[in-house]
Amino acid sequence: MHVAVYSTRRYDRDFLERANAAGRHRLSYLEARLEPATVAAAGEADAVCAFVNDRLDAEVLRALHGRGVRLVVLRSAGFNHVDLAAAAALGIAVGRVPAYSPHAVAEHAVALVLALNRKIHKAYARVREGNFALDGLLGFDLVGRTVGVVGTGQIGTVFARIMAGFGCTLLAHAPVQEPACLALGARYVPLRELLAGSDIVSLHCPLTPDTRHLIDAAALAQMKRGAMLVNTSRGGVIDTRAVIRALKTGHLGSLGLDVYEEEGDLFFRDLSGEVLRDDVFARLLTFPNVVITGHQGFFTEEALAAIAQTTIDNLDAFAAEGRPRHPVSVERVV
Ligand code: NAI
Repeated sequence: MHVAVYSTRRYDRDFLERANAAGRHRLSYLEARLEPATVAAAGEADAVCAFVNDRLDAEVLRALHGRGVRLVVLRSAGFNHVDLAAAAALGIAVGRVPAYSPHAVAEHAVALVLALNRKIHKAYARVREGNFALDGLLGFDLVGRTVGVVGTGQIGTVFARIMAGFGCTLLAHAPVQEPACLALGARYVPLRELLAGSDIVSLHCPLTPDTRHLIDAAALAQMKRGAMLVNTSRGGVIDTRAVIRALKTGHLGSLGLDVYEEEGDLFFRDLSGEVLRDDVFARLLTFPNVVITGHQGFFTEEALAAIAQTTIDNLDAFAAEGRPRHPVSVERVV
């Protein structure tokens, strides 16, 4: 198949080329994000390969369909950025990478917990400047602390297992109880109870209409004073402005983010020479108790290799059977 691969960076190309070594598909790499203005760059492609901040709304899907595109393969597990109803109505199949390495994201969430707790971001800068004072770097033992896991699918379950290894007590909240989490001793409770009882809350649910701004001002008020919040799921799960207010009052003790509501205009690019125009993001950067990474949870060798291989598998299956190996259907969002 001829595939227009949007939002491509060097590393995407390297791993996709390796997975497509047999040369069954012609992959055209585009650095640009997929949006109305860049649809034409798909050229004669029959399929489009997209990443998390590409736009796949009805307008873009209609334009792609008009050019002959019949398949969208996502290089992600999340599919909140795709208008699945519009895709179904147009007859465009959508495939995704349901699982690549839950460890990659779970371990990154743990990295954020450890960095925030032991103030590694501050210690690193201090030591480089010859400042070996410890004031302000006080952390706490993780053993015996209560960790709330919101969403106990593949990533949340791995995160829970690692935190159980630290000797933490686990609270969980999800529509479906996961036997592996129950086996770790996790207690499933309503969200309110999880928020009130946790020293650390980590978000691992998908972004859906139900989970948009799940962590809003009311939810933040239910959290323990001084607790830590970590989000490696999708930016829209938390109300960023409400979180800033909670940080300003000191009610929220610390915040670790790998995702941000408006990350589409920021992440995956080098903007170091440009003026930051997002005032909300700029405010977040001013807090000493906030650590932000630019959506790198997935960024391990194992995960990139698996994403590339599953993407090629989706293309192979569509070429052979007219259906991607891992389809996303409209029922999944209702
Ligand atoms: P999964 O589908 O295995 O698990 C999601 C879990 O969330 C399920 O247990 C589901 O029941 C639960 N859930 C659904 N609605 C909920 C609600 N209202 N409240 C609480 N829980 C709810 O997905 P997986 O693979 O664990 O990924 C989770 C999310 O992590 C993805 O949807 C994606 O947004 C994000 N992600 C982030 C990455 C990064 O690089 N930072 C990379 C990969 C995924």
